[in-house]
Amino acid sequence: MAYSVLTENMCGIVAYTGNKPASPILIDGLRVLEYRGYDSAGIYVPGSGCYKAVGSVQDLVKALPGMLPGHAGIGHTRWATHGQPSTVNAHPHHDRAKAVWLVHNGIIENYTELRERLAREGHTFVSDTDTEVLAHLVGDAYERIHDLPAAVVEALALVDGTYGIAVMAEDMPDTIVTARFGSPIAIGIKEGEYIIASDAAPIVRHTRDVLYLKDGEYAVLSPEGYGVFSFKHEVLNRAPETVSYNIEDVQKGGHPHFMLKEILEIPTVLENTARGRIVMREGNAKLGGLTDAADILRETKCMIIVGCGSAYYAGMVGKLLIEDLTGIPVQVEVGSEFRNRPIVTKEGTTLVAVSQSGETADTLGSVREAKRRGIPTIGIVNVVGSTIARETDVGIYNHAGPEIGVASTKAFLSQLEVLALFALYLGRLRGLTQARGAEFAMEILRLPEKARTILSRREKIRRLAGEYLGYDDFLYIGRGYNLPTAYEGALKLKEVSYVHAEGYGAGEMKHGPIAMIDEVFPTVAIMPSDSTYAKMRSNVEEIRARNGPVIAVATEGNTAIQDLVDDVIYIPDTKECLTPILANIPLQLFAYYTGIMRGLNVDRPRNLAKSVTVE
Ligand code: M6R
Repeated sequence: MAYSVLTENMCGIVAYTGNKPASPILIDGLRVLEYRGYDSAGIYVPGSGCYKAVGSVQDLVKALPGMLPGHAGIGHTRWATHGQPSTVNAHPHHDRAKAVWLVHNGIIENYTELRERLAREGHTFVSDTDTEVLAHLVGDAYERIHDLPAAVVEALALVDGTYGIAVMAEDMPDTIVTARFGSPIAIGIKEGEYIIASDAAPIVRHTRDVLYLKDGEYAVLSPEGYGVFSFKHEVLNRAPETVSYNIEDVQKGGHPHFMLKEILEIPTVLENTARGRIVMREGNAKLGGLTDAADILRETKCMIIVGCGSAYYAGMVGKLLIEDLTGIPVQVEVGSEFRNRPIVTKEGTTLVAVSQSGETADTLGSVREAKRRGIPTIGIVNVVGSTIARETDVGIYNHAGPEIGVASTKAFLSQLEVLALFALYLGRLRGLTQARGAEFAMEILRLPEKARTILSRREKIRRLAGEYLGYDDFLYIGRGYNLPTAYEGALKLKEVSYVHAEGYGAGEMKHGPIAMIDEVFPTVAIMPSDSTYAKMRSNVEEIRARNGPVIAVATEGNTAIQDLVDDVIYIPDTKECLTPILANIPLQLFAYYTGIMRGLNVDRPRNLAKSVTVE
C-alpha cells in the first residue's frame, strides 16, 4: 500500500517539570489525550531515556521498565495523518547527537526541502517525520550556541507550517522550552511545577491555573520558575487564567457534544484535506499516494466505488464528479452487496474503497474480493494504518482528524473533498484542460470560508429544529449532485434523533412518495441555484399544493424561494459539483439540534457503533 509522506496534526503533547517523578504524570496525561486519536505514543525523561510503542498508551506502559527516575520529561501521543504508525515515527524525536529531544503537534510544510538540505550537510534520519527534521535543526543550533531557547527560536525561523512543541536537552534535565504557532499549547502552573499539554485536559487534574501560549510565543520552564517570550525574545507579561471546566469539557473543546465540535471543525478539516494537495499553476491535485498508480489510472476503463452508510453516499457524489471530469464510467456499490453477490466486473476496472475508519467489514471484504479478481484497489481512508489503508494498493488519506461522534460529520465532508481532488487528478491525467482544472481547484480552496459562513448562521438552524420538533416524519429530496445529500441528510436525522426520515430523488416523487405528503409530513428540499433548480422548484410546488411544509436549502441571493416555501436555509454559491460539500453542513446541524432537543445522546446513538467491523 502506498499512501504518502508523513506529518501529523492531531497529536497530543504533554510535558512536565517539577518535584514529582515525571513518568507517571506524563503517562496519565497521554491517557487523557487519547481522545485525540492514537496510533503510537512515547516519552523521554532526561537521564532515563526514550520509550515508544505502537498502539495505545497502555502499550507504551508495557514497554517501560517501571517508573523512570527523573522529575521532568516530554510525551506524545500520535495520530498520524500520513504514513504508517511505527515506533521510529513515534515521538519524541532527537537530533543527530541525541542531545536535544522534542515532541511536536502540527505540520512542517517545507520539511522536504529542509531535510534535503540537512542531508547534504551530512545528517541522516531514522524516521519519515517532519518532526525529526525540526529536532535536527534545534540540535545544530544548540551545538553552536548552547542556549536552548535561542536554539529553538532559531530553528523555528526556518520552518513553514504549524507547530506546538515541547523541547528538552539531555544536559538541562529540568528545563523545558515550549513554543506555539498554529497548534495549541496550554501550560498548567503550580508552585514549582509545570505541566504543558496540547489542551487543558491533562492539566486540570493538577491545577486550574492555565496559561495559553499565543502564536509566535515561547515559554521556558523549570522548577525555579517560568517566563513567556515573543519570538523576538521580548519578555511578555502573561498571567494564567483560572479554568473551571473538567476533562470531558476540554476534550469536547468546550462544546456540549463531540458531534457539534466535529461539525464546527469542518472548515479546518476542509483546509487540512486540501493542504499541500493543489498545484494551482498546473490546475491539478497532487496526491502523493497515487503516484505509483498513475499509469493504471490513465488507462482505467471504469471504476467501482464501494462504501457503507455515509461513505457510500460520498461515493455517489464521487461517481458524478469522476464522470463529469473524466468521462470514466463509475458504478457505486454498497460494500455488503459488492462482496456478496457476483457483480460483473470487466478488464480495466479500478476499485475505490471509501471508509472513515478503514475497518468496516463489508468495505474491507469488497477490497479483498476485488484483489481476488485482480482489480487494482485505491483507499480513501481517514484512519492511518487501518486495515483498508494497509490492504489497498494505493490511497489517499482524508486528514480529517479523529472523529469520535458516531454519526459521521467532518469525515464525511472530507470524503467528498478527497473525491473532488481525486476527480481533478484523474481529469488532468485524461485530458481535462489546465484552465478548467485551475478553476475547479480554486473553488475547492474557497470552500472552508463558505463553510464558516454556514456555521456562523447555526443559531437559525437551531431555531428551525425547535420549530419542526413536533413532526415525526421527514422527506429529504434532491436531484443530481444533491440526491446523495438527500440520502445523507435523512440518514443523519435518523441516526441522532430517531425521527423517521427518507431520502428520495425529487424526480421520483410522483412515482409514489408524494402520496405521503400532508400538513404533518415536512420535506427538506435541497435546491441550490444550479441545473436542477427549475425541476426542484416544480417538485416543491407539487408538495406545497398538498399542504406539505417545506424547508429549502437554497443558494444565497435566491429571495424568490421565500414565497414558495416555509423556511429557507441559505448556502453560499459554488460550482454545482461542489454544492454537496456545503449543503450537507446545515443538514448535519439540523439533525444535531433535533437530537439534543429530543434529549438524546447524539454522540452515541442507540444500537450504533462507530465502526461496523462485523458483517
Ligand atoms: O468507517 P466507515 O466510513 O467505513 O463507516 C461507514 C458507515 O458505517 C458510517 O458512515 C455510518 O453510516 C455512520 N454512522 C454515518 O453517520
